[in-house]
Amino acid sequence: MSNSTTNRSISSEYITKDPSRFLSTTESESVIVIHIVSKENLQQWLSTLNKQQALWVESNHFQANKDEVIKVADADGKLCMVALGVNKNAVSGIKTLAKLTKSLPAGQYKLVTDENSELLSIGWALAQYQFDEYLDNGKGSQSKAAVLEISETTQQEISAIINGVILIRKLVSTPTCDMGPSHLSDVMSNLANAFNADFKEILDEELLEQGFNTIHAVGRAAENRPRLLELNWGPKEAPKLTLVGKGVCFDTGGLDIKPTSGMRIMKKDMGGAAHTLGIAQMIMAAKLNVRLRLLIPAVENNISANAFRPGDIITSYKGTTVEVDNTDAEGRLVLSDALALASEEHPDLLIDFATLTGAARVAMGLEMVPFFTDNDDIANGLMSSAADVDDPLWRMPLFEPYASQLKSNFADMRNMGSGPYGGAIVAALFLKHFVTEPKNWVHFDLFAWNSSNTDICPEGGEAMAIRAVFSYLNQRYGKQL
Ligand code: BES
Ligand code: ZN
Ligand code: ZN
Repeated sequence: MSNSTTNRSISSEYITKDPSRFLSTTESESVIVIHIVSKENLQQWLSTLNKQQALWVESNHFQANKDEVIKVADADGKLCMVALGVNKNAVSGIKTLAKLTKSLPAGQYKLVTDENSELLSIGWALAQYQFDEYLDNGKGSQSKAAVLEISETTQQEISAIINGVILIRKLVSTPTCDMGPSHLSDVMSNLANAFNADFKEILDEELLEQGFNTIHAVGRAAENRPRLLELNWGPKEAPKLTLVGKGVCFDTGGLDIKPTSGMRIMKKDMGGAAHTLGIAQMIMAAKLNVRLRLLIPAVENNISANAFRPGDIITSYKGTTVEVDNTDAEGRLVLSDALALASEEHPDLLIDFATLTGAARVAMGLEMVPFFTDNDDIANGLMSSAADVDDPLWRMPLFEPYASQLKSNFADMRNMGSGPYGGAIVAALFLKHFVTEPKNWVHFDLFAWNSSNTDICPEGGEAMAIRAVFSYLNQRYGKQL
C-alpha cells in the first residue's frame, strides 16, 4: 500500500515475548537497594542505617515527603541505597515508583518492601518506556535504563502485562501512515505466529460478499482497504472468550468531517483494536484457560468520491438496516457487524474495547474508563480487579429508555441519538442491539491516549482498563493445566 510515507515496517518488532529490558532476574553484586519510607516509619528506617548514613540523611533534611528522594553512598563513596518518600496510604500504586525512575542513574536496583512488589515493578518498567521509534537517535532500547532486580516468579507474573501495555502504547502512537488497516493486519498475523494462533482476514470486496456491509461502507473511501481481522487461539474445549476492538486507523469524521482540533489525534481511533491485541498477547503469554477469539474491523474513516454519506442506509451483517445519521459515528457501525458475528458462537464472555464517544470523556474525564454491562457479577468482579491493580474503572448504565433515540423513520435504526445528552450510553445501546446475549457482554469506551508527558507515560498512546480486565480474566478462568 503506497500511502506509507516513512517506509517503516515496524509492526513485526512490536510483538515480543521477551521480558522488559527494565527488569532483570540476574543478581548483580553492585545492586543499589531502594527503601520506601513514609513519615510514619522514618525513624524506624533511620535506625537501620549506620551512623554515617543516618547523619547524611538527617543533615539533608530528608523527611519522607511524597516523592522525596535521598541517595546514600557506602564507605567507598559508591551509591548503594536510595530512599523514596511516600504517603502511608499510597505505598503500592502503579505510580509509586514512576517519578523516582527518572531521577536514578543507570544501574541495577532492588526493592526492599513488604508491599505489592508486582504492581510496583510494573510501574517501574512502564514509567521508563518511551516512544522513540521515529527519533534520530531512536530505538530507546539502546539507551541505558534503571534496571530493577526481581525474582523469577515476579518476572513470570508481570512480563506479560508490561509487554501487553507497551504493545498498546506503541500501536496507538504509531502514525496512520504506518498503522493503517493493512498494518494492523500484519500486527495480528505476527502476533498469531508468535503464539501459534490461527489468523485470517476478510478483505475489501469479500466483506460485501459475506454481508459485512457496515465495515465496508465505513472503510471503502480509503486507499488502505477495509478488512475484518480474526485470530483464534487456545484449547477448543476451554470457555470461549471473544474480544472485539474498534480498529478505525484514522477518523476524519468522513463527509461529516471533524474540525481541525477534533481530528488531530485521530490516529488513536484504533485504540480499541490495540487494546484487544495487547490483552490477547497477555492472555496467550500467560496461557489462560480460554479459547480466545479476537475480531478487529480495521478501516480508515476517510473521504473520497465513494465515501458513505449521511442518509445512506446500510444493511448490517445481522440484517438490521441502519440509517447513517452522521458519518462520524462510524465506530459503532463497524463494531455492529463484528459483534453480530461474535454473537453467532455464543461466547462465554464477549468484551469490546472502543474509542467510541467524546461523550464518555465529558462524563468521566480522560483517565477514568467507563464500562457497560447488564451483568452485576461481571461488573463487581471488574471493579474489584480494578482496585486490586490500581487501574480505574467505573460502571455506566445501559439505560433502555434512551434506546428510543435510535429510531429512524427510514430504516430499522439510525447510528446516532437525537440530542446532545448521554452520548456514551446511546452509543452503548446501539452496540447492545447487535449482541445476542447481552448478559455475557461488556463494552469499554476508552480514551487510549495520554495528552501530555506524565511520570508513568509519555504523551501518546496509553493502555487503559487492560490490567484490570486481565486480572479479572485471570481470576475467572485461571491458567491452562
Ligand atoms: N472516534 C470518535 C470518538 C472520540 C472522539 C473518542 C474524541 C475520543 C476522543 C468517534 O468516532 C466519534 O466521532 N464520535 C462522535 C459521535 C457523534 C457523531 C454521535 C462523537 O463522540 O462526537
Ligand atoms: Zn467518528
Ligand atoms: Zn471514531
